[in-house]
Amino acid sequence: MMTRIQLPKIPWYEITPENVYLNRRSFMKGAGLALGAAALTACGSMPEAGAGSAESASATQAETTLAEAGATADELGDPLNTFDQITNYNNYYEFSTDKQAVARLAKDYPTSPWTVEVGGLVSNPGAYDMDDLRQMFEIEERIYRLRCVEAWSMVIPWQGFPLADLLTVVEPKAEAKYVRFETILDPERMPGQSSSWYQWPYVEGLRIDEAMNPLAILGTGLYGKDLLPQNGAPIRLVAPWKYGFKSIKSIVKIDLVAEQPTSLWMAAAGHEYGFYANVNPEVNHPRWSQATERRIGEGGRRPTLPFNGYEEQVAYLYEGMDLRANY
Ligand code: MTE
Repeated sequence: MMTRIQLPKIPWYEITPENVYLNRRSFMKGAGLALGAAALTACGSMPEAGAGSAESASATQAETTLAEAGATADELGDPLNTFDQITNYNNYYEFSTDKQAVARLAKDYPTSPWTVEVGGLVSNPGAYDMDDLRQMFEIEERIYRLRCVEAWSMVIPWQGFPLADLLTVVEPKAEAKYVRFETILDPERMPGQSSSWYQWPYVEGLRIDEAMNPLAILGTGLYGKDLLPQNGAPIRLVAPWKYGFKSIKSIVKIDLVAEQPTSLWMAAAGHEYGFYANVNPEVNHPRWSQATERRIGEGGRRPTLPFNGYEEQVAYLYEGMDLRANY
């Protein structure tokens, strides 16, 4: 079920170029402006370079996508990255640390059938088949910037549904303070999981109020097609105000927990990768600056925006917190 593009309540088209307007419409619809809703690197060894190319999977969603409808930019007016760029320049350490090898190595990874177990401190634990999840929740489109901690970035038209929708169904108990996510553990087919550098499976976490923020989605597709294995098929987190490593791929387990989860990157190099990992141009990585970034497909560098440009939607979550200490 794909959300149709709806006419906006506010006529931005009077003040906004059409491509920006089309995207802003989707952004407003989903992203959050739903006011009132309550020598290890995470992604490589150095800030990087380059992008490459591949073919797509079957599209199961038939209705018009924003990209098809002509949305070519995010709400800031920055152009979408191409399907080729997004699907051929990937961080997915379970397959390879070489970004341009991931697509080839992950190509035949079986992602159906797929079950996501949701449990821990909830009243309604459940094991959900991917097809059921697609039916249970309205699939929306969100054009989001993805900013990797390595200082490269892309603009990606995702499909997915709000994480909050799933959490509401399972009913977190009062003691639940965090959400812990786990990627599939399959060392036979994921060669990277044989590396003892990391503590597998990949684990990530959000504070529960972060997880309930309307910007946080469980991504199931991009550019109107189901996710390809290299992008974390069939289901991954997308938390666009945080460095990309928080957006864990190929999720099989979601638990509501009382204590802050230790992520794979915290376990590997906690002094470099913290729990919060909010995009912050003022707090450098110990080995490189976070003040600027390279947009894949562009020459030069551009300034990095606080919270990756989503400050208005998420800054309230961190009021009173020292964002240097809580990196
Ligand atoms: N999830 C898993 N399971 N394994 C990974 O290696 N890499 C992370 C994140 N999710 C990663 C992961 C990093 S570092 C980034 S930048 C994004 O995925 C990249 O997502 P993309 O390849 O779809 O652009």
